[in-house]
Amino acid sequence: MSIYLDNAATTPIDPEVFEAMKPFMLENFGNPSSTHSHGRKVRAAIESSRKKIAELLNCTPGEIIFTSGGTEADNTIIISAVHTYGIKHAISSPIEHHAVEHTLGHLARQGIITLHMVKLDANGHVDLDHLEQLLKEYPNALVSLMHANNEIGNLLDLDYVGRLCQTYGAYFHSDTVQTVGHYKHDLTKTLVHGITAGAHKFHGPKGSGFMFLRKDKKIKPFVHGGAQERNMRGGTENVYGVIGLAKALEIAYRDMDEHIIHVKKLKARMIDQLRKQIPGVSFHGDSENLERSLYTVLNVSLPESEDNSMLLFNLDLQGISVSGGSACSSGAQTGSHVLGSLYPNSKRGAVRFSFSKYNTENEIDIAVSKLAELFKVTV
Ligand SMILES: Cc1ncc(COP(=O)(O)O)c(C=O)c1O
Repeated sequence: MSIYLDNAATTPIDPEVFEAMKPFMLENFGNPSSTHSHGRKVRAAIESSRKKIAELLNCTPGEIIFTSGGTEADNTIIISAVHTYGIKHAISSPIEHHAVEHTLGHLARQGIITLHMVKLDANGHVDLDHLEQLLKEYPNALVSLMHANNEIGNLLDLDYVGRLCQTYGAYFHSDTVQTVGHYKHDLTKTLVHGITAGAHKFHGPKGSGFMFLRKDKKIKPFVHGGAQERNMRGGTENVYGVIGLAKALEIAYRDMDEHIIHVKKLKARMIDQLRKQIPGVSFHGDSENLERSLYTVLNVSLPESEDNSMLLFNLDLQGISVSGGSACSSGAQTGSHVLGSLYPNSKRGAVRFSFSKYNTENEIDIAVSKLAELFKVTV
């Protein structure tokens, strides 16, 4: 038996995406910067991918820059915005992904910025009044707040924060790696300056992503080299990665309504069954709230027991792949900075289930009963 419930870490590639990529691995191998026909053909495919993504996100093609994924995109926006605008203060939260947290930490340790942490409420949502206070105190700051948390799923009101940032002249970056391909972004309406995406989070290839950079708030390049990506990111493009990324996003938008209904049902079913089968179970962050959290993520909080850490290991032995905190760094149950900062004294266990269009109700039922069985053994 093999059940994959770790889709916030990565998703399986959609066969339709793979089919779209294949010709660019085999026959269409030209370098897109070459001016001969082999190159031109590939250049045209890259530009049509860019156009497709821009149409879906309601921005212009020139605002989409391809990268190796979310991490590079987050690094680029944060570091380049700080350097371009001489930013001295950054406002962020203690539960950002390491791609953001470590990048800001690096700039702060070098003395380039001073970092200010916004308060979170008991469920891990950003305290918007405190954010406004910080913005007032430090005008023209960099604000970096994620759209959805990859461990607990909490969602941020991007439109509201965008308006606040505009009022106080802040540069607004949001790590949207967990929401691109799962929610419809309208970048004409949402006043964000830079967002990021990784194709492997929505059934596209790994090592391929993009950043949106608003055209009226330009930043300097981060990766220097050739003139690729309108001089914004040197290096020969990951051609089949780009083709797969655009195809995956196209499919995600085409089928999104249907998938949201399916995945939300799976999540609701799991919440319901966990409550019935595990006394004392609760949920980390706001992940049981179907409206204020990612519908793809459920972070289960298990009553304190002798050896919660063995649960993940035993689930794995039973063929069920889940994550303890975030799988992005180690896959280990211990050491989640997100759970650590929200529940500093908690000894409860954490299991993050994350779902995709490929999961079934039967898989949910099996996963819950296995977890309940294992949990009984440990208490
Ligand atoms: C919220 C968030 N940001 C950034 C990343 C990094 O993205 P990538 O794996 O594409 O570098 C991830 C996942 O790994 C993530 O969940």
